[in-house]
Amino acid sequence: MADARAARGACPAGIRPGDETAAASAVREMFGRVAPRYDLLNHLLSGQLDVYWRRRLVRAVRPYLQRPGLRFADLCCGTGDLALALTKERRRLASARSGVPLAADFCRPMLERAKSKLAQAGSHCELAEADATRMPLADASLDLVTIAYGFRNLASYDRGAAEFRRVLASGGCLAMLEFSQPPSVVWGALFGAYFRHVLPRLGNLVSGSGQAYSYLHRSVQHFPSPAEIRRMLLDRGFTRVEMQSLTGGVSVLYLAYV
Ligand SMILES: C[S@@+](CC[C@H](N)C(=O)[O-])C[C@H]1O[C@@H](n2cnc3c(N)ncnc32)[C@H](O)[C@@H]1O
Repeated sequence: MADARAARGACPAGIRPGDETAAASAVREMFGRVAPRYDLLNHLLSGQLDVYWRRRLVRAVRPYLQRPGLRFADLCCGTGDLALALTKERRRLASARSGVPLAADFCRPMLERAKSKLAQAGSHCELAEADATRMPLADASLDLVTIAYGFRNLASYDRGAAEFRRVLASGGCLAMLEFSQPPSVVWGALFGAYFRHVLPRLGNLVSGSGQAYSYLHRSVQHFPSPAEIRRMLLDRGFTRVEMQSLTGGVSVLYLAYV
């Protein structure tokens, strides 16, 4: 586990560790394959916990969403659930309607789903097909960056963290959700078994891509611990990092401030 934890970027099966270009292509193709069933599987496999976890993020960034003229982007937006929840909350808050948020992902089939969902809900978002480690944005051009379950998939976590810091202006915030390994031995073993045995089978049944869901388990196992992520964010120039453990540590909400 210690070696695996040392991984500094996503590494899907069959990819040579350190080959970031190949890792990014494999991740993009994998999400392209699961895109048609992604939402269904997300809600089914997490028992709707994914909805609750995103809601926790939205609640945590409310002070930002209330700001008139807020500039914000949801990176690795997938099919747009977080962008949708954020724009709905922002609309709900009086005086906070100015500014068009950005929702970005590097996988076109995911982005197309986000586009139609956001349009259906009447949520106005600019969509961009872009790599979260190389955003087509100026330095210090955003007040809020959000990312849910995307960071773990980046080919380089360090470059991702540096990019989030680069695009955030002074006073800005990065709000990030990621899976983690629960600290409790019992809860960790239960979740490990679910991730390792149940998830790939169900994923295969519904999406036809068990590989994507075996990758999910491996990627969580190889992902740095919350303390390591916190350190990485601080090293990249964030001044303060708060962490909230959700559902016994299965998911962690990071709030990193500039
Ligand atoms: C697990 S999904 C999460 C989607 C969404 N944020 C959610 O909460 O459901 C991860 C998403 O990250 C995207 N992704 C992975 N690496 C990326 C990168 N380097 N740049 C942009 N998007 C990326 C994938 O295409 C996928 O849509």
